[in-house]
Amino acid sequence: MSEKVIEKEEGAMKSSKTCLVFAINGQRFELELSSIDPSTTLIDFLRNKTPFKSVKLGCGEGGCGACVVLLSKYDPLLEKVDDFTISSCLTLLCSIDGCSITTSEGLGNSRVGFHAVHERIAGFHATQCGFCTPGMSVSMFSALLNADKSHPPRSGCSNLTAAEAEKAVAGNLCRCTGYRPLVDACKSFASDVDIEDLGFNSFCKKGDNRDEVLGRLPCYDHTSSQVCTFPEFLKKEIKIDMSLDPRKYRWSSPVSISELQGLLEVENGMSVKLVAGNTSTGYYKEEKERKYERFVDIRRIPELTVVRKDEKGVELGAAVTISKAIEVLREKENGSMLAKIVSHMEKIANRFVRNTGTIGGNIMMAQRKQFPSDLTTILLAARATVRIMTSSSGQEHFTLEEFLQQPPLETKSVLLSIEIPSWLPVKKKNGSSSDTHLLFETYRAAPRPFGNALPFLNAAFSAEVSLSEELNGIVLHDCRLAFGAYGTKHAHRATKVEEFLTGKVISDEVLIEAIGLLKDEIVPDKGTSNPGYRSSLAVTFLFEFFESLTQTNGWLNGGCKENGFDQNVESLKPEAMLSSAQQIVENQEYSPVGKGIVKAGARLQASGEAVYVDDIPAPENCLYGAFIYSTMPLARIKGIRFKQNRVPEGVLGIITYKDIPEGGKNVGSKGFFRSDLLFAEEITLCAGQIIAILVADSQKHADIAANLVVIDYDTKDLESPILSLEDAVEKSSFLELPPPLRGKSVGDIAKGMAEAEYKILGSKISLGSQYFFYMETQTALAVPDEDNCMVVYSSTQVPEYVHRTIAGCLGVPENNVRVITRRVGGGFGGKVMKSMPVAAACALAASKMQRPVRIYVNRKTDMITTGGRHPMKITYSVGFKSNGKITALDLELLLEAGISDDISPLMPSGIQGALMKYDWGALSFDVKVCKTNTVSRTAVRAPGDVQGTYIGEAIIEKVASYLSIDVDEIRKVNLHTYESLKLFHNVKAGESPEYTLPLIWDKLAEFSEFNQRRKVVEEFNASNKWRKRGISRVPAVYGVSMRSTPGRVSVLSDGSIVVEVQGIEIGQGLWTKVKQMTAFSLGLIQCGTTSDELLEKIRVIQSDTLSMVQGSVTGGSTTSEASSEAVRICCVGLVERLLPVKTTLVEQTGGPVTWDSLISQAYQQSINMAVSTSYLPDSTGEYINYGVAASEVEVNVLTGETTVLRTDIIYDCGKSLNPAVDLGQIEGAFVQGLGFFMLEEYLMNSDGLVVTDSTWTYKIPTVDTIPRQFNVEILNSGHHKNRVLSSKASGEPPLLLAASVHCAARAAVKEAKKQISRWCTNNQQEIDLTFDLPVPATMPVVKEFCGLDVVEKYLEWKIKQRKNV
Ligand SMILES: Cc1cc2nc3c(=O)[nH]c(=O)nc-3n(C[C@H](O)[C@H](O)[C@H](O)COP(=O)(O)OP(=O)(O)OC[C@H]3O[C@@H](n4cnc5c(N)ncnc54)[C@H](O)[C@@H]3O)c2cc1C
Ligand code: FES
Ligand code: FES
Repeated sequence: MSEKVIEKEEGAMKSSKTCLVFAINGQRFELELSSIDPSTTLIDFLRNKTPFKSVKLGCGEGGCGACVVLLSKYDPLLEKVDDFTISSCLTLLCSIDGCSITTSEGLGNSRVGFHAVHERIAGFHATQCGFCTPGMSVSMFSALLNADKSHPPRSGCSNLTAAEAEKAVAGNLCRCTGYRPLVDACKSFASDVDIEDLGFNSFCKKGDNRDEVLGRLPCYDHTSSQVCTFPEFLKKEIKIDMSLDPRKYRWSSPVSISELQGLLEVENGMSVKLVAGNTSTGYYKEEKERKYERFVDIRRIPELTVVRKDEKGVELGAAVTISKAIEVLREKENGSMLAKIVSHMEKIANRFVRNTGTIGGNIMMAQRKQFPSDLTTILLAARATVRIMTSSSGQEHFTLEEFLQQPPLETKSVLLSIEIPSWLPVKKKNGSSSDTHLLFETYRAAPRPFGNALPFLNAAFSAEVSLSEELNGIVLHDCRLAFGAYGTKHAHRATKVEEFLTGKVISDEVLIEAIGLLKDEIVPDKGTSNPGYRSSLAVTFLFEFFESLTQTNGWLNGGCKENGFDQNVESLKPEAMLSSAQQIVENQEYSPVGKGIVKAGARLQASGEAVYVDDIPAPENCLYGAFIYSTMPLARIKGIRFKQNRVPEGVLGIITYKDIPEGGKNVGSKGFFRSDLLFAEEITLCAGQIIAILVADSQKHADIAANLVVIDYDTKDLESPILSLEDAVEKSSFLELPPPLRGKSVGDIAKGMAEAEYKILGSKISLGSQYFFYMETQTALAVPDEDNCMVVYSSTQVPEYVHRTIAGCLGVPENNVRVITRRVGGGFGGKVMKSMPVAAACALAASKMQRPVRIYVNRKTDMITTGGRHPMKITYSVGFKSNGKITALDLELLLEAGISDDISPLMPSGIQGALMKYDWGALSFDVKVCKTNTVSRTAVRAPGDVQGTYIGEAIIEKVASYLSIDVDEIRKVNLHTYESLKLFHNVKAGESPEYTLPLIWDKLAEFSEFNQRRKVVEEFNASNKWRKRGISRVPAVYGVSMRSTPGRVSVLSDGSIVVEVQGIEIGQGLWTKVKQMTAFSLGLIQCGTTSDELLEKIRVIQSDTLSMVQGSVTGGSTTSEASSEAVRICCVGLVERLLPVKTTLVEQTGGPVTWDSLISQAYQQSINMAVSTSYLPDSTGEYINYGVAASEVEVNVLTGETTVLRTDIIYDCGKSLNPAVDLGQIEGAFVQGLGFFMLEEYLMNSDGLVVTDSTWTYKIPTVDTIPRQFNVEILNSGHHKNRVLSSKASGEPPLLLAASVHCAARAAVKEAKKQISRWCTNNQQEIDLTFDLPVPATMPVVKEFCGLDVVEKYLEWKIKQRKNV
């Protein structure tokens, strides 16, 4: 980017018509327009041209919220400031002219003091990796600001309600925390919340009264001048006319229709882009890369921003934002058609997209590009019309329906406005005994209830009906039935159904006929995913709309409201607020270890000052890389070229395996097993394999150019690729595993089978993959140093292996390489093996170019090249007794490893470990790890264990269904005794008192009122047709091993302490635990300074592979403990050295000795104040973690939506090193597991190329999909002599507990199936109640299992019943 940035003192310069003027965090910016590329986004500018790095890039498509900033606009006439959030990744820099931007560091920071939002996020333990946190902070701040604008709140709190607080962060993704603490932090400001009802935090202390708690809460004062969102100097400047000469620059902002017209007419032949909010580039990403000669911003034209409401209807200018429309229509209408439209609009995108996305932009995306719009569907049913301006015919008026059906509007035509006509009921129609009533309703079925997800189908219906006593029913006079987003060009009216229904009395018979017609009309286009599901949704919604009209009772009893609009649909979704409870023991024995202290660096993370790899300022001459990857699974690479053979702007080269220097190797990862390639060589081995790194002068140019690369492939004489497990078996394509890694059989399987009274033989289940979805994608920065050395900053969980890989690749001794990692914006296993090629490619490019090279892999490339979890197929036979006790389990597993070893050889032990949570009697375990032509699968949080858990539960469920015994009984009867535990887990089982699972199992029943609630669930299911509930209690067993880990503790001359460990802070709180351990261990010297005071003196610093060697891997859940133990040993050494000094000092002074004087004395005596060590675990370093969860869900039988009503967890943390951190790990892991079991589909095409490669298609949990009630107890299971201060792990094991949600969903679906079997006329359909519910149990899956034709079945049954009567 080449903009000229002129920073001036406030008020020092008059605004100029040649410049953009705006403010960021109160600082004035003036940019010469001629120097700006108008396609520059605000995030590009913020991150590359300003010091404000809190704004993070998580997706670049408006789907994650990491880049959210506050935009403030001043209206000089009304003297009013409007403040709202926007996504800076979609907003164009030029469009913020005259505006003010506030980022998280602008709210507060370490220099001027943190904002109450930052403080409360920290105090509610609501940050882990911290990458999402600045965006969260701004979203929360904006919610507070707007809630308190119109009228001042009660002192100390905000007008924000708890419900609004929940929605404040609904559009922001967080992969770590599980959202609950974030919502609590936000709720702590709300006026209708009692702080004591919120989750574990550092403000409430046991026994405090309310005032004490409130006194401790960081002060919130809405009048505080701490944050001025719109600086005075800018107010003055924008009063001056700032309009630009429209023809002079590539960016113009016309202020009238005629000016716009002029611009569009004269510039014939010129490529022009009309811009409103520019949010469409989040979906049509290629648009970001197109070179337009001119950008015309239409948002300053009064006709396009008008909102008019009168008796004729509502007119909305095309450039009115969706949020503005919501605000205005909500103000004006309550309970009417417009209110329904508003409520639907609130689910479009997310708040920060709605704040800039316009009504017109949305409609144009649908009209021109067939975007699956919500707006067009609802406006179609509302009989909307549009006004457009074309170059040929001037202004024209069309119905929306006509407009949608026309060919795509030419680029220089403009949508001016949209009108929604008033629609009033009429007096008695012919044959009616009442006035007509108007019904209007809208529907959408999407994976996230609050929005931020495109719907599988949306619909909106309007109908005019009246009661006919004569016909004894409700007559439909007129209706509009609009459907959209189901895989069709445009929103579409089901006209045949409309015609059929018009004039009819609504009855079951009529409805079933209408449904028949509808199924022929609403048919998704070929290639659309889940076509059957989408069609069934159309039926569902039609049924929901008309069902209540089949009876006149409801109608007569006031079903139709006064205003003519009926809330005629049974409310199908429970709208309970989030709530939670935590039971936590803060252990005082090793204080400050055991205390729930605030996470190290939490405030810095919230303010956005925490530095991640991509925040390190670019060194001079820095170049940028983007990966070129294969889209073919097995093909010869004939050539790499650019489209049209033109080298794109900014490109400096493409580096392939041929560029590996002499002595170096084409190695991309040197991990646990065989090393992997960095780049494909002559033949690419899988789609998604990295072929090259393209190097350019900016990340934007690199990414654009990489998309313009064409690879010429040739498959001649090559074998067909192996793309499925079946192919692999057929071709015997397996990885060789050393015997100890193959898993082991336990007991005598033949004997176990012989003892069985029943057997299920050859049952099959399968599991798919899961993507990490760390918020910070893979990134590295390589800087060449003297003497052929290379310094690499890498976002990695394994710096040591990155180091080895780079040295191997460059062919240099390892002491020529230095890898530095400070913190990682989320890892989840994805930054173990998969971080190595990223760093190696950067280092290679830097070495070749002799310039620094950085890469920040974009989300799509990251999703395509990193592999994710291992998919697998499982065949099992199980033998059991009539009471459900399993006597033998014979398992055969096929695992998809992808193209190379990665960590795949470790998978069998993970699977088996978690599977052995039950006593299977005897177990035979056979695993084949299949080598396929797909990207190597790798470690994803709880690798293998989560699959093992699922397999165990699927078998238990099958046995229960087979025997028709309650599944909870079957679980219980198969839980291990200590003896059987030892048989299955050997030494890991530890001693008998360590086996806490049976205790937790019973305790959880009490904690969650499990047995009482099971009865309530039964009653609920008996009395509800369309909602079914399930409740399930599931245990988890997770074995871990401690690994050797180095540490160093150094004390500086002023008494401050520096700690180095090679464990990486990836959000799991490692630094916090290490700090606590250091304070505790040094505190044992018992000088006059307390451990708590020492805590304040400790800083844990970045890991540096030359400073500390043999760093091992951060993973497997034990690195925090091991690192803590390493520093504890170091501290013991320091204390030993300091004790004689202390004794002498006490003797000399006769009084207590402070830490600082002790250290000063030690320095005078030249005592070595740095101790390093490597903690080496012995054979007792293996142990098992235990937890139990009970989840209750509600399934919407009509849409397939699953709501997790409540989850209760008890997890054994031993004596937790930090219960706040462990609680965060438990909740966060659980929610990530919930994503695996219920939501996340990581799908490939037939070539093995990942196709769910964006936030549009890959849906991780959001705040609206977590358990509505989420209770966690951290069990303090007392003394564990072989553990680090009796602690246990918490990072991965709780993820397995999310299986409880899946099991509960299965139970609910089973109820739906039972019901449908009752409805099946003539028993023509056998309903299988022993089914396996697939993973993930997404909406389409659940609905399919509940019955795609459930509505038809119900109506047929009802009709039959009536006839029989
Ligand atoms: C993350 C995300 C999630 C979303 N989810 C949903 C959803 O669930 N449901 C849904 O319906 N929509 C959804 N959208 C779409 C969103 O509503 C649109 O992106 C937005 O309304 C477009 O408005 P805009 O002002 O940003 O348009 P722009 O991006 O500025 O413009 C869109 C296109 O229309 C052209 N254009 C704009 N205004 C006019 C005009 N007046 N006349 C002629 N051409 C014009 C532009 O040149 C451009 O080609 C989502 C968008 C994002 C980014
Ligand atoms: S980076 Fe902008 S929303 Fe994700
Ligand atoms: S803390 Fe939210 S993504 Fe890591």
